[in-house]
Amino acid sequence: MSTTTMIVGGSAGLGLAVARQRVERGDHVIVTSRCEQRADRAAQQLPGPARGVGLELTEPRSFADALSEINRIDRLVLAATERGGAALPELNVDEATRVVTAKLVGYLELTRLLRPRFSAEASVVLFGGTAKDRPEPRSTLTTVTTQAVSGMVRTLASQLAPHRVNAIHPGAVGDSPRWASTPEPPGLARTPIGRLVTTAEVVHAVEFLLTNTGINAQDLHLDGGVTIT
Ligand SMILES: NC(=O)c1ccc[n+]([C@@H]2O[C@H](COP(=O)([O-])OP(=O)(O)OC[C@H]3O[C@@H](n4cnc5c(N)ncnc54)[C@H](OP(=O)(O)O)[C@@H]3O)[C@@H](O)[C@H]2O)c1
Repeated sequence: MSTTTMIVGGSAGLGLAVARQRVERGDHVIVTSRCEQRADRAAQQLPGPARGVGLELTEPRSFADALSEINRIDRLVLAATERGGAALPELNVDEATRVVTAKLVGYLELTRLLRPRFSAEASVVLFGGTAKDRPEPRSTLTTVTTQAVSGMVRTLASQLAPHRVNAIHPGAVGDSPRWASTPEPPGLARTPIGRLVTTAEVVHAVEFLLTNTGINAQDLHLDGGVTIT
């Protein structure tokens, strides 16, 4: 039986790149988007068996219906994020509620609902980011939610055992849609490797976390060393 990998937030950016790599290695892939048509379009552009699911992370009570046709999960990648870019003085309560609900309540509720469908070897990777340890002026919500990803890894690895749960915390990914057209992405000048990390490096690290059977309950920083500067 082929491996089934679900990538929540697999319709674009890093999640889509992970989806492509998993399809190329022979997995059956499920990609999600807020919009079912966009999820289907993303699935259709993948070079192998894939399907799309519409899932709005800010509405956790809708998940059970959205997931009703998913029977088995071998790999779960939680990559989706709502963007919120305010410094504290401009905090918008509606935006903050969306961001926190999507990343925290959303990731937890999805994992709770999918857990009974995990195969014996199933493993989970959550996306955080280096804003966790290096706040930027406008990263209030991102810093809070990426810190919380570390907490989720610990409690989930404990409660889902023997399933493995890890997080990847990328720095700004230079060739991702988020930063590709930004002249001075955050961290570029001070990254010890002299450049930003790439999408291919993120995909490689996610593959490691998903498949290395000894790594568990870890936060992997993939940032070219920017956290020491
Ligand atoms: N790119 C970077 O440099 C970078 C750096 C550090 C950390 N990260 C983290 O890596 C992950 C992926 O980032 P990315 O840059 O690849 O993001 P992206 O290109 O903006 O893609 C985000 C994905 O999340 C989905 N999504 C957004 N809001 C959603 C919602 N409310 N409900 C359900 N799905 C939703 C999007 O789907 P639709 O738009 O189709 O609905 C899309 O599939 C994120 O967790 C991000 O914080 C990225």
